[in-house]
Amino acid sequence: MAKVVWSSKFAFVLAAAGAAVGLGNIWRFPYIAGEHGGGAFVLIYIACVIILGIPLIMSETLIGRRGSANPATAFQNLAKEFKCSKFWWLAGALQIIAGFLILSYYVVVTGWVVDFFFHAIFHTFQKISIEKTDALFNNLLESPIQMLFWATLLIIACVFIVARGIHQGLEKTVYFMFPALLVLMVVLLIYACKAGSFEQGFQFLFHPDFSAIHANTILLALGQAFFSLSIACGALIMYGKYVTQDTSIAKTSLIIAATDTIVALIAGLAIFPIVFANGLAPSAGPSLIFKNLPVAFGQMPFGDFFAGLFFLMLIFAAFTSAIALLEPTVVWCMESLNMSRVKATTACGFVLWLLSLCSIFSFNLASHIKFFGMNLFELLDHVTSNILLPIGALFIAIFIGWRMPKKISADEFGYSTKNVLYQSWLFIMRFVAPIAIIVIFLSAFGWI
Ligand code: TRP
Repeated sequence: MAKVVWSSKFAFVLAAAGAAVGLGNIWRFPYIAGEHGGGAFVLIYIACVIILGIPLIMSETLIGRRGSANPATAFQNLAKEFKCSKFWWLAGALQIIAGFLILSYYVVVTGWVVDFFFHAIFHTFQKISIEKTDALFNNLLESPIQMLFWATLLIIACVFIVARGIHQGLEKTVYFMFPALLVLMVVLLIYACKAGSFEQGFQFLFHPDFSAIHANTILLALGQAFFSLSIACGALIMYGKYVTQDTSIAKTSLIIAATDTIVALIAGLAIFPIVFANGLAPSAGPSLIFKNLPVAFGQMPFGDFFAGLFFLMLIFAAFTSAIALLEPTVVWCMESLNMSRVKATTACGFVLWLLSLCSIFSFNLASHIKFFGMNLFELLDHVTSNILLPIGALFIAIFIGWRMPKKISADEFGYSTKNVLYQSWLFIMRFVAPIAIIVIFLSAFGWI
């Protein structure tokens, strides 16, 4: 069978940037940045992206291209090539599992976004009060049927796209959705500048308040950077498999990380001016975009229309991430269980649907089931973000830094082993990344 590769380097960059840009950029980043020192947090975040994010994206793409398979088999192939422990495939398997678990709640949250998109279209937000949006959101969480409906629809859409393969499915989707997402974002930014309190939003997000920086802030910035760049979920290794030999991994990694970061910053600049113009507080949690933002839009000229555009933008962002989260599991089924793409995608879609029930019911029917004080939805988020992702990234760094021969990694990047950029990358993989990740991990559990 001929090797499947991206139609162009541009297609790879779009797909990987589409995977990176998601709910994490548009909702989570602006809020966390605002609450943790604004500009000072942004600086630390950018440092994390440059120092750890870009080198890790390079490593994942490299593992995918050289290992030429799904993440588990890619690790296995490379371990064989470098004659190291045959257990390394577990590092890849862990990432596949992490991505699939993230997807099981990601589709549920995306379902909320779709629900709110329709509210915006049907003019529910005009002059709406915070009590009403509160009720709207809570009613949604209390209705398993409604949530299940949206999640099912989204899973079917993902299955449909991924089943069509890289060229007909993934590429065609990102070619349309990613540029559309960027256009919508610019439109919203202009709207926010014209109709919102741009000054105040800008100040909130970029004024560096160094006194708000604590040790915890650095860890938050690092965790946010991993999640936002889609590191350690198997997606980048998977997409790396389809990268051609003449693609400069350093260059594409830089573009992917820069796009993701710029989108996060623009999202903040579009959201906060709208929130501030309407005298609302940039409050915590999922409530910012589902409760406060609709109230803000409802008080502004053409608010419903722009609220609709906002939620549509989020749907595009989340959807291109969701298909990237599904692809590794599907390809694992194809390669390890010998299934056809259509069969593998359908089977994964079904398992995903069952798993998504855990998140859906955790807000209503099963809300009494708690583990360590968390419901199932929170548990999934916690286990993936705070446990599986750091461990996955740690394995990548150790494998690439200590197990892959220098000559091979340097060759793959097109550098000599003496090159300063290569040396810095290797130093980061060997020392900086493992130490930083272990520190986050321990502190997340309050051990240091
Ligand atoms: N980066 C995505 C976001 O910002 C979330 C995500 C985490 C993801 N890991 C992933 C997306 C792997 C695709 C693949 O919302």
